[in-house]
Amino acid sequence: MTIQLGDTAPDFTAETTEGKLSLHDYLGDGWGVLFSHPADYTPVCTTELGAFANRKAEFDQRNTKLIGVSVDTVESHNGWSADIEETQGSALNYPLVGDEDRAVANLYGMIHPKALSTATVRTVFIIGPDKQVKVTLTYPASVGRNIDEILRIVDALQLSVGAGVSTPVNWNLGDDVIVPPTLSDEDAAAKFPKGITTLKPYLRVTPQPDL
Ligand code: BEZ
Repeated sequence: MTIQLGDTAPDFTAETTEGKLSLHDYLGDGWGVLFSHPADYTPVCTTELGAFANRKAEFDQRNTKLIGVSVDTVESHNGWSADIEETQGSALNYPLVGDEDRAVANLYGMIHPKALSTATVRTVFIIGPDKQVKVTLTYPASVGRNIDEILRIVDALQLSVGAGVSTPVNWNLGDDVIVPPTLSDEDAAAKFPKGITTLKPYLRVTPQPDL
């Protein structure tokens, strides 16, 4: 199944390292990052899942829950967690789905047979409080993801939803943001009291609004 932006994130119930859970119940009314990794006890995955664990407080601050998936068993995940703690400094502190029957992997199209036939590739689905898929990312097994970039995307999405702005190239938290071209100058000035800089009629920026 191909999941597109704006689709409702398919719900599922699965066994995880934190017991049986349903995705939508687990996410509640907050944001979510659902991600897959190819296999337990592999090098790149060990660094990635450790990094998610080390940075979990930053996702919590953003009201964003983490949940991982691979086609390994929950028992495998639990054993591997000790290696993650030993080598990366944090054990798993978010649920990891044991998806040995590939139910979740197939529901989300996480298996890309031409890249990796037997396992999930490195996918990321960022899910909004409305349960819609806001962002999808897909990486091959050989390339580890960047937690800073995932947090940056969550920040950008939350600003977009909360303040009605867009974020320009290479934007980072605290940088100026883009005023929607659909707003008149008058409405934009009222909505963004920190001030507006007009570079072109269609390209206006304002300091990052407070949420
Ligand atoms: C890794 O995490 O290093 C890895 C996992 C599966 C295939 C190749 C590499």
